[in-house]
Amino acid sequence: MSADRAVVLLAGKVHPRVRERVEAEFDALSIDAADAGLLSDETRNRIRGVAAATRISAEFIDSLPNLEVIANFGVGYDAVDAAHAATRKVMVTNTPDVLSDEVADTTVGLLLNTVRELPKAEAYLRAGRWVTEGAYPLTSLTLRGRTIGIFGLGRIGLEIARRLEAFGLSIHYHTRTKRSDVAYTWHEKLIDMARAVDTLVVIVPGGAATENAVNADVLAALGEQGVLISVGRGSTIDEPALISALADRTIAAAGLDVFADEPNVPQALLDLPNACLLPHVASASVSTRNGMADLVVDNLREWLAGRPAITPVPE
Ligand code: DGY
Repeated sequence: MSADRAVVLLAGKVHPRVRERVEAEFDALSIDAADAGLLSDETRNRIRGVAAATRISAEFIDSLPNLEVIANFGVGYDAVDAAHAATRKVMVTNTPDVLSDEVADTTVGLLLNTVRELPKAEAYLRAGRWVTEGAYPLTSLTLRGRTIGIFGLGRIGLEIARRLEAFGLSIHYHTRTKRSDVAYTWHEKLIDMARAVDTLVVIVPGGAATENAVNADVLAALGEQGVLISVGRGSTIDEPALISALADRTIAAAGLDVFADEPNVPQALLDLPNACLLPHVASASVSTRNGMADLVVDNLREWLAGRPAITPVPE
């Protein structure tokens, strides 16, 4: 390690471009966050930045006395104890904007795949069943005529709304405060929105405030034609309630890119034919992930050079 370059810790399984750039621009150390206690005091004292691809707890932050910045890979930073970082005056950054279009596109794709059951139709063809059994059965669900409720109308939610509006669908949203820059129908309460729509798209960033917010009552309010699409954080959905709602056909179907205990997906969900399940891939294209990686390292570079962070997380 050279004495004049800042020491940056690569915490968790970081994106290869983050690793490559951090190794080129800083003195890089690699470690599982959980192993921080294994570092010598001298090394821990030298660490000024963390590129985070894992949980960053208060204890972990406290184990690094000279830490200045935690750059989180992802717009969602629920894995970082940002409140504790603030008390230590440690800057936390995330990666907004660079992934909004990708996540919005994928969300629309997931919704279409969920209602038109395209993965099942493809599996049918690949198994040769078109030849032996004839046309794939008609789907009972369609996107036509649906009323969309978006839970979370931030940057990504807005892009989802714009796309679905172009499909000719009417858009409702639930956020804590009404936005003055959109004409979509606002609901102060999630349950009221769920009663007014049949398709709920969840794109809130997770955290304690929204934990299990999509519960049995919200799901039941969507009705028997109801569809849930979840692309924010799994913690927002009461997963056992969702499994029951899908099994009992209280709602018709769900498309999920995020889960409560990733990468573990409950077997009961995997067994359900009316669930379309993806392994958290909404932002997972090469170009978007490279953009996120660059923003992680650019944030580290700016802050450690004494300049403002590019994308600090909201206070
Ligand atoms: C994010 O950026 O928070 C996404 O969930 C990562 O794909």
